[in-house]
Amino acid sequence: MTKEKKFKLAVLVSGRGSNLQSIIDSIERKDLAAEITIVLSNKSSAPALDRCRKHGIESVFLDPKLYSDKLHYDRAMIQLLQKKSADLICLAGFMRILGKEFIQAFRNRIINIHPSLLPAFPGLHPQRQALDSGAKVSGCTVHFVNEEVDAGPVILQTTVPVHDTDTVETLSQRILEQEHIIYPKAIQLCIQNQSSGRRT
Ligand code: GAR
Repeated sequence: MTKEKKFKLAVLVSGRGSNLQSIIDSIERKDLAAEITIVLSNKSSAPALDRCRKHGIESVFLDPKLYSDKLHYDRAMIQLLQKKSADLICLAGFMRILGKEFIQAFRNRIINIHPSLLPAFPGLHPQRQALDSGAKVSGCTVHFVNEEVDAGPVILQTTVPVHDTDTVETLSQRILEQEHIIYPKAIQLCIQNQSSGRRT
């Protein structure tokens, strides 16, 4: 029996890392035929880094203060991710906008999760935006990353109801539960897509 080739994932984080955890759990349950070869954070205090230590996953804090500008920071990320041969780069609460050079280096291989039904409520505070708009439905989206913020082609979306009594916290929690379900599924779809692409 031939050993199945595992897809190499790089996960970029800035904070809590609950979406990173859902990816780790899916891999450990063998629902995802992938391995995380590197987790990169732009924040030294990100709890996501503790999750890596707990699960024996290599992680790096890349300090933005050490680079003269955004372009040089992006180049350092490119170099690191190429060294780790990442097949797919998963943004999981990574709160930096990626520059053109980064996106070109990994065209169609960067995906992001956003807590709204894009194209509704892109950018910051999407749950607050949903409440302020009076929307009765919101949700989350996994999409390919292109040069426009929160605008690339959609891979998966799930809806959740917005209740009259919701606060940002209750709505965020309802959406987050769905994020943890659809992000690993979207990654699996990307893996299948890349595998079939390689066969043709
Ligand atoms: C998640 O809700 C994710 O969708 C959001 O940040 C949170 C990170 O949580 N991302 C964005 O808003 C990106 N525009 P986590 O660190 O627990 O995964």
